[in-house]
Amino acid sequence: GAYSYEDCQATADWLLSQTAVRPLVGIVCGSGLGGLADALKDQVAFNYRDIPNFPQSTVHGHAGRLVFGTLKGRPCVCMQGRFHLYEGYPIQKITMPMRIFKLLGVETVILTNAAGGLNQDYKVGDIMIIKDHLNMPGFAGNNPLAGPNEERFGVRFPCMSDAYDRELQQLALDVGLELGFSDFLREGVYCVLGGPSFETIAECRMLHKLGADAVGMSTVHEVIVARHCGMRVFALSLITNKAVMDYDSEEKANHEEVLQTGKQRAEQLERLVSTIITRLEHN
Ligand code: 6GU
Repeated sequence: GAYSYEDCQATADWLLSQTAVRPLVGIVCGSGLGGLADALKDQVAFNYRDIPNFPQSTVHGHAGRLVFGTLKGRPCVCMQGRFHLYEGYPIQKITMPMRIFKLLGVETVILTNAAGGLNQDYKVGDIMIIKDHLNMPGFAGNNPLAGPNEERFGVRFPCMSDAYDRELQQLALDVGLELGFSDFLREGVYCVLGGPSFETIAECRMLHKLGADAVGMSTVHEVIVARHCGMRVFALSLITNKAVMDYDSEEKANHEEVLQTGKQRAEQLERLVSTIITRLEHN
């Protein structure tokens, strides 16, 4: 279940003893979006299985490596592959890497994911800047901060109305405009579900009515823990498929489509993220 502050400290100290990189930016790569990690220069990479206390990744399309390096001279650490509720992990394990980021000195966390589009204006291949979220597992008590609060990380009742940094959202829009990405760059609300089954038609309609623009199975838990310990957060969804919203549709959500769209748009998403990183204030 839970990791103590000392467990996290031991993991962070071990990593800091293995690399000279002192990252200010932490990146989490979504399904099929691990190419960002490969773009890091002067890499020092660790398989999750070799990192003391670290959870292991099991899903196809997730490499399971923590990669340190520099992006255009900026020190970064990148999770290539993340942990999901549907793999059966306790929610504290899924989010433990955020606390490691914090103890490594990370100030800004950038997360990416593959998501289904609920907003009818969205197209496959759109990149959505996440401006807010709906935490459905959280409604049922499955929140990564449930249990005793560790004050050394943050407060008992953290605010989430400012979870997604407004300046970083604006920066992403500015950078997207410069790169010529405006036609497929969106801003919207991301809804997390537990998975692994995809949504029914009725569920998609419900989520859309509730204000969700995209639906997925990740990110929100990590955002909550990252904000709890005071890191700035920016997150992007790649819309890899359209959620099925009507009974006449022949479409079916599937993981192969998710990975395929990831491949086609991944390079542009990586350019967007790396350009944003070069413009961060602490660099
Ligand atoms: Cl349609 N649903 C969920 N829950 N996650 C996804 C997805 C859909 N497409 C990519 N990831």
